[in-house]
Amino acid sequence: MTDDPIVYLNGEFLPISQARIPVLDRGFIYGDGVYEVIPVYRRAPFRMPHHLARLQHSLDGIRLANPMTNDAWDALVRDLCARQPFDDQSVYLQVTRGVAKRDHAFPKGVAPTVFMMSNPLALPSREQVEHGVAVVTAEDNRWLRCDLKTTSLLGNVLMRQKAADVGAVECVMFRDGHLTEASASNVLIVRAGVIVAPPKDNQILPGITYDATHEFAREAGMPMEVRAVTRDEALSADEMWLSSSTKEVLAVTTLDGKPFGGGVPGPMFRRMYQAFQQHKPAAARRA
Ligand SMILES: Cc1ncc(COP(=O)(O)O)c(C=O)c1O
Repeated sequence: MTDDPIVYLNGEFLPISQARIPVLDRGFIYGDGVYEVIPVYRRAPFRMPHHLARLQHSLDGIRLANPMTNDAWDALVRDLCARQPFDDQSVYLQVTRGVAKRDHAFPKGVAPTVFMMSNPLALPSREQVEHGVAVVTAEDNRWLRCDLKTTSLLGNVLMRQKAADVGAVECVMFRDGHLTEASASNVLIVRAGVIVAPPKDNQILPGITYDATHEFAREAGMPMEVRAVTRDEALSADEMWLSSSTKEVLAVTTLDGKPFGGGVPGPMFRRMYQAFQQHKPAAARRA
C-alpha cells in the first residue's frame, strides 16, 4: 500500500495528502452528512446496489439531494478501486451538506461535499473467526434515527471505546430491555436452532450484511425469525453473532468478561460462515 493513496474529492482524484476541505464544511461543524462503507472483493464491489439504496435512504432522511445517479456512483467507486494497488478493499464514501456560514438551518444553493477513499479490506483474523470475539454490553443511549448512516457517530464512538477500553471488539446495546445492535455491527442470536434478528426499524442500521445473512439462511434452510429480542433472550442465547461489511459474521464467545455460548463459536455460526464464504466470490462476480 502506498503512504499517499489516491482519494476522490469533489470531482477530482488526488493523493490524500493533498485533499483539503474548508473548516466551515458542515460535516466538520455539525456532522451534517451521511456515509457508506462498501466491501470490495477482487476489485468487485459487493452488493453495491444495496449500498446505494441505503445511501439514498440516508440522504432522504437528512433531506439532502443525492449529488449523483447510481450509475455515476457505481462508475466512480470502480474508478477509485482501479487506482489502488490492492485487490480487496473497503470503500468509504461521504456526502456532507457542504460549506456555509455556521447556522443550524440548511444553507441555500450550496454544493454538497463528496469524498471517497479506499483502504485495504481488513477482515477478521483466522483466530477471531475460529475462536470468536469478546463484547461488552451497554444501554443504548443514541438518538432514534439509527437507521440513517450519518457521520454524526459520537454515540457509536463512545460505545465502541467502552469495548476498546477492556480489549473487546464490540459493545452490544439494549434499549428499553430489548437488543438493538452493536456500535458498528448488527447483532443476531440463535435460540433452539433458530436465528433471531431484531427488526429493521429506526433503532438499528439496516445492515447490508444483516440482509445477506437472511438470504443465506433461507438458501441453506436455516430457520430464521425477525422479531424484538429481549435482553434476557439475548443474554441466555445459544449463540450471538456480529455482522458487518468488514467483519462479515463473527461469533461472540465472551460477553462482559464471561464465556458466552460455551466459549466457542456454535454450529449455526459455522454454517453461516461457510455460506458467507461460498457466496462471496460469486456475488462479487455478479456485482
Ligand atoms: C451501527 C452499525 N450497525 C450495523 C452495521 C452493519 O452494517 P453493514 O452490514 O451494512 O456493514 C454497521 C456498519 O458499520 C454500523 O455502523
